[in-house]
Amino acid sequence: MHDFKFKKGELYCEDVRVAEIAEKVGTPFYLYSHHTLVDHLTKIQKAFETLNPLVCFAMKSNSNLAVLKTLADHGAGFDIVSIGELKKVLTIGADPKKIVFASVGKTEEEIRFAIETGILLFNVESVPELEEIDRIAKDMRKKVQVALRVNPDVEAPTHDKITTGTLKKKFGIDLTSTRKILKNRAKYPNVKINGLHIHIGSQIITSAPFINAIKKIAEFIEELKQQGHEMEYLDIGGGLGIIYKDEKPQTAQIFADAILPYLEKTGLKIVMEPGRFICGNAGIFVTKVLYLKDNGVKKFLIVDGGMNDLIRPSLYDAYHEIVPVKETKAQKIKADVVGPICESGDFFAHDRMMPRVKKDDLLAIMSAGAYGFVMSSNYNVRGRVPEVMVKENKFELTKERETFEDLIRGEKIPEFLN
Ligand code: LLP
Repeated sequence: MHDFKFKKGELYCEDVRVAEIAEKVGTPFYLYSHHTLVDHLTKIQKAFETLNPLVCFAMKSNSNLAVLKTLADHGAGFDIVSIGELKKVLTIGADPKKIVFASVGKTEEEIRFAIETGILLFNVESVPELEEIDRIAKDMRKKVQVALRVNPDVEAPTHDKITTGTLKKKFGIDLTSTRKILKNRAKYPNVKINGLHIHIGSQIITSAPFINAIKKIAEFIEELKQQGHEMEYLDIGGGLGIIYKDEKPQTAQIFADAILPYLEKTGLKIVMEPGRFICGNAGIFVTKVLYLKDNGVKKFLIVDGGMNDLIRPSLYDAYHEIVPVKETKAQKIKADVVGPICESGDFFAHDRMMPRVKKDDLLAIMSAGAYGFVMSSNYNVRGRVPEVMVKENKFELTKERETFEDLIRGEKIPEFLN
């Protein structure tokens, strides 16, 4: 599942002691395992081998350049959501013909740049967006290939903030409007509508919601075929859940076995957009204990990382396992693990049984490789933390800790205040 293991009482990432990295780069920091990333990508590629799908890593989950390069080197394409992501992934030499672009709010600048770049597919999320792409393509004298992101209106049992596939959410186009677009496709002569896209949510641990959505879309593709609308691509999105605590998510193989028959029947080229499945368990967040506080009612383990570094517990009440980097026999206490930020929402765990660790002990917050660093902020004027990658017995800083100068870059006092 991942390459963070205890050997002789110490946490290692592959063949490197996590504590050794902390000595070198300070705390807090994010740490990624090269091998885990490759292993998870390969698991998906292998499970779906018979269809030879294009696996586009959802880089919103982790856009560290070393992570992107690792995955590109092993055949991944990319699912992007902004011009920033596109420009970033191009710096590692990603193949534009393996890039798909979904976002409900693509701007003209983003559309132009993506057309110039020659990406594989725009995953279009509304009629006005389709009109806009058609207008810009005409202006640029280009024919642009798009897939329609269909909202299949299926429930997915996950956190409300990360479910996307019902009509109560802003994503995708409902089936009725999709039919209408295709009936009137001559209205958009500068786009080639060449595929359908779905993405029903994230951290989904059972196959049923995927099967429901894929069945629905497969029937829809059949209906369209009957009407003479041939397409080339079906993009089935991401959303595969991982283990944070005691979840029993489907493996890539179980997932593939469940949906392959439906996918095969469509006869279309399959695109997939896994994010968390590839990088979630491939990363940890390492933080240092500052204080142990006991107010008579509760105990608090106060650490140097905060909600600005890893916001998932605060935002989604997400559970992340927390382990001391050096195994300890210290007596267990029930404590909240909290950061230094000025909010009660600044926590990594509530009422967690934790060993009574001491000042300067290191804690690893596990499964932090997806939606960790990418969602971090400078709240409380805290610099974003460094990111490190390990490959076998080597480790290297892949992103430096932000300095105070980074934090005030671009700010100035207006003339009228001087
Ligand atoms: N494709 C599309 C169109 C998406 O919107 C997403 C995620 C993915 C693929 C990748 O989903 P994954 O395989 O990673 O589940 N910040 C939240 C998750 C937000 C997901 C956003 N979209 C979290 O920390 O749980």
